[in-house]
Amino acid sequence: MRTDPILRRLRPGEEAELTALLAAAYGHARFGATVLRLAGMADATILVLEAEGALRAAAAVVDYGTAAYLGIVGTDPAMQGRGFGRRIVEAALAPVPTDRVVLLDASIAGAPLYEKLGFVDVDASVVLEAAGPVPAPAVPGVAPLVAADLPAVAAYDATVFGADRTSGIGTLFREHPGGVVCRQGGRVVGYGLRQPDRIGPVLAETTAIGAALIAALAASGPDGPAIITVPSSNAAMLDHLGRSGVPELRRLRHMRRGGDHPSDRGRIAAMASFHLG
Ligand SMILES: CC(C)(COP(=O)(O)OP(=O)(O)OC[C@H]1O[C@@H](n2cnc3c(N)ncnc32)[C@H](O)[C@@H]1OP(=O)(O)O)[C@@H](O)C(=O)NCCC(=O)NCCS
Repeated sequence: MRTDPILRRLRPGEEAELTALLAAAYGHARFGATVLRLAGMADATILVLEAEGALRAAAAVVDYGTAAYLGIVGTDPAMQGRGFGRRIVEAALAPVPTDRVVLLDASIAGAPLYEKLGFVDVDASVVLEAAGPVPAPAVPGVAPLVAADLPAVAAYDATVFGADRTSGIGTLFREHPGGVVCRQGGRVVGYGLRQPDRIGPVLAETTAIGAALIAALAASGPDGPAIITVPSSNAAMLDHLGRSGVPELRRLRHMRRGGDHPSDRGRIAAMASFHLG
């Protein structure tokens, strides 16, 4: 029996089904931690489209107040081209005030949809993969990041990112406490967090500080490759990583809709993720 698709919020207990849907849509299975993280964040909303007894499409919005980030957009490959992607993205964006900037990182598959919905290009988000150490000269003031640093780190982050990411940074830190902060002259001038398969977020006042933070985070993580996603606006960091032998895997289109773009992407050395910015 065919019934009309139902658009609704993800329910507790559906995380594994959503993770499987995203793995099918994107062709890789790295969404388990992302889904659990978003499901636990008060400022995140996960929408799903249910049809023929299963989850068929998904999208999430993290609303930071002055900016919102759209992520985990995906449709079951067997059900693409039926308007599910458009419906779920429109529904996810509907509660966001029209004067609030919405940011996203578009795949080749997703970009045509976002263009139709009024998104325009900002720059590119360049995905690199470090196979091992990423050495850089040490800079003064770098120390392990501890919980007491989080308010100052979140305040610094807001001056660069352009919105208050306290909840996202705190969630990542609780998941993986290995991080670094750089203080010079008594103020935070950079910080970075490490995830199991990723270095980021890393935000820093200068390329030298960002490079030193990435070097420390590359050395501190588990063995195995680490993704580093760098805004193309930070050409100096891309140049440093290129000269360090860190290859580029792919580029996504960083796009926005509405409002002014709040981020200083030139000071973002590594993005947190495509759902947290
Ligand atoms: C992107 C994705 C979610 C689209 O889902 P979908 O359910 O097939 O989308 P829709 O059927 O609603 O189509 C969306 C719109 O984009 C258009 N479109 C889709 N693919 C297109 C393409 N390659 N070129 C031009 N337009 C395209 C459709 O015509 C439609 O426009 P319309 O509403 O004006 O008719 C789906 O392809 C997907 O899951 N891809 C893999 C994961 C991914 O890359 N997600 C996006 C991350 S940014």
